[in-house]
Amino acid sequence: MEMSDELLLAEKYDTPLYVTDAGKIRERYGKLKGAFDRIYYSCKANTNIAILKMLRKEGSFADAVSVGEVLACLRAGFPEDRIMFTGTGVRNDELAFLAEKGVMINIDSCSELERLCNLAKKPLSLSFRLNPGVGAGHSEKTITGNKNSKFGMEEEALKRAVNMAMQKGHEIKALHCHIGSGILSEEPFIRAAEILENTASSFKEQISFEFLDVGGGFGVPYKEDERELDIPSLANALCRIIKEPIAIEPGRYVVADSTVLLTRVNTIKSNGGRNFAQVDAGFNTLIRPAMYGSYHKVRLVGDSIGRRKKLYDIVGPLCESGDFLALDREMPELREGDLLAIENAGAYGYSMSSNYNSRPKAAEVMIEDGRDRLIRERESYEDLFSKEVL
Ligand SMILES: Cc1ncc(COP(=O)(O)O)c(C=O)c1O
Repeated sequence: MEMSDELLLAEKYDTPLYVTDAGKIRERYGKLKGAFDRIYYSCKANTNIAILKMLRKEGSFADAVSVGEVLACLRAGFPEDRIMFTGTGVRNDELAFLAEKGVMINIDSCSELERLCNLAKKPLSLSFRLNPGVGAGHSEKTITGNKNSKFGMEEEALKRAVNMAMQKGHEIKALHCHIGSGILSEEPFIRAAEILENTASSFKEQISFEFLDVGGGFGVPYKEDERELDIPSLANALCRIIKEPIAIEPGRYVVADSTVLLTRVNTIKSNGGRNFAQVDAGFNTLIRPAMYGSYHKVRLVGDSIGRRKKLYDIVGPLCESGDFLALDREMPELREGDLLAIENAGAYGYSMSSNYNSRPKAAEVMIEDGRDRLIRERESYEDLFSKEVL
């Protein structure tokens, strides 16, 4: 996308605005498709239905973690048998919905399976989530595979669950683990795959799994000095360990770099020797910097000729001191009215946004074949109050 396009898009749709390049998603998906047997796009990273539709057409399966995400996938046209549900702490009414729909359910606990068996009226299609005791991720908060995390089952509990499912006559399709999010080295994936394969082979007399699912967590570089994961090399390493077909559940890898968040500077001020550029996107629009301390590249859109470099805290409009997009960032001298592009905003951007401080959520635009189209309207103030009971 040209910078001039970004200026025009900001004029046309206003800011803050998520702008997604469809071609980049196809390119990323293509890299994975060539390397693994089955891809469940983990839609929590970005649930926009236009994006889901596009990935369905590319041949992707979908991984959903809530009834809402299952409904989004169904709306995007995914058939039930191409959706896997990987929830945790799932309620009985949610289990009843999933059983009735017939999506594959990735069992997270013996309790979940018992409750599911009691309410299911037909045989279920099941996968089982192992807690491999191996965790990794870009932040403590995104590590899920470590021993003391709430996710999955230790081997003994998993064996009890599998035996229970067999006795009840349900279809056992897969074993699964997901160790965390934002991982840029092969080593933790390899360790987890060894444990997953060991567990699978302990069932070899009883079950032949359709596939083993090594989860998502494939990281992307956010900083200049971070290196891309080598997908063919990782896939080869995993193939050497796992005998069954391999499924993955990537979210971030597919969508992160497809999207920029456009936001406009409305106030320049300084306090205590710090320069603040205040923009119209805060952690209500992109929570990653405030929540995980994540780094996103920030680019001035348009001409920076003649502007000397200065350090800025790029902060939002929320009434919280923790409301920032970037700290101590060297930028060309910023002016009120400047447009900034926050890079790599496609994963866990809109999907983690909120209405905090009673602010309507941003709009989303997709660029495809050189054309822009709105894929989610900006919320209105009316939308904010539409569920209030007066
Ligand atoms: C079970 C499961 N699968 C897949 C993912 C996707 O992770 P990522 O976006 O890092 O690929 C997550 C995210 O935390 C997850 O919890």
